[in-house]
Amino acid sequence: MLARARLTFVPALSAPARADFATAVRKGLFALRKRLPCRYLYDAEGSRLFESICALDEYYLTRTERAILCESSDLVVSRLPRAATLVELGSGSAEKTRLLIEALLRRTHKLRYVPIDISPSALAQSARSLLADYPGLSITAFAAEYGAGLARVHQLHGPKLVLWLGSNVGNFTRAQAARFLRTVRAGMAPLDRLLMGVDLRKSGAILARAYDDPAGVTARFNCNLLARINRELGGAFDLAQFRHRATYDAARGRVRMELVSQCVQRVPIAALGATVAFERDEAIHTEDSFKYSLREMDVLAAAGGFAVEWRGLDANRWFSLNLLAPRAD
Ligand SMILES: C[S@@+](CC[C@H](N)C(=O)[O-])C[C@H]1O[C@@H](n2cnc3c(N)ncnc32)[C@H](O)[C@@H]1O
Repeated sequence: MLARARLTFVPALSAPARADFATAVRKGLFALRKRLPCRYLYDAEGSRLFESICALDEYYLTRTERAILCESSDLVVSRLPRAATLVELGSGSAEKTRLLIEALLRRTHKLRYVPIDISPSALAQSARSLLADYPGLSITAFAAEYGAGLARVHQLHGPKLVLWLGSNVGNFTRAQAARFLRTVRAGMAPLDRLLMGVDLRKSGAILARAYDDPAGVTARFNCNLLARINRELGGAFDLAQFRHRATYDAARGRVRMELVSQCVQRVPIAALGATVAFERDEAIHTEDSFKYSLREMDVLAAAGGFAVEWRGLDANRWFSLNLLAPRAD
């Protein structure tokens, strides 16, 4: 643990990250249907590429959520007790979080911020930059998976506003999302609130551009997962032999990202002491992004043990910001 006056940085709460990654790669690439957990998209390079995605015109999610936050941050914080701690799940660069930090600091001048992110580089960079800009802020940062970070957050005293922005919930299936919300809910007191940014169902054409932009930034983000295996596990993936694919299943409301092998190939991975075989057109499933209707969002909140206390939408109704209050058991 690194503690400076206003920053406490708590690295990896669970097993060493590289061992976790090796286990996940072995399990995922030797499965009948190849898959890799999307949390591994976010090493230092993946976090940097994700920030480039956020700046793309096609990736409407970031600017739309920011626009809703610009209008509503003061209203959201007005619903919380004054001394609330700000907690964030999957905080990334925390650029949009600044709007809430500023709204909270307008009321109290002192604020504790507790970000949880699996990407230590994103966490360290955002903490440095926030501390430089907000003298009233102190930060306890957990470089951890949501679950391990939440276990620590549940031990915090006093009221909390928990943020889960960027439609990160979409990476879970609907059933997993409800289970995860119940875990978040279990550590919340009646006056605590969860603010969740959730992307809404919309035309497949808009989603196709957002998840497969013409400049190829999302493709590089996805392919970085194979580059990460090369860097960290001594893999021999030739990135030119894999293609990024994003498809929208309108019935399920799900964008699926995959990496598709362009030929029959065998790829050794030194740290696993194993070689992975690919057929031509065989896919590795790397990420899902589930989209919600407002009705589905209400159902999710209820299944997670929450009531929707307030909701903000943009003019196109492309994105929603949901303030959730824990329901009495
Ligand atoms: C889609 S980005 C969103 C970042 C930021 N919240 C935003 O709205 O721009 C997802 C973030 O969550 C982090 N993340 C993904 N899966 C995670 C997990 N299982 N546990 C902790 N952090 C995770 C990633 O490192 C990344 O910073």
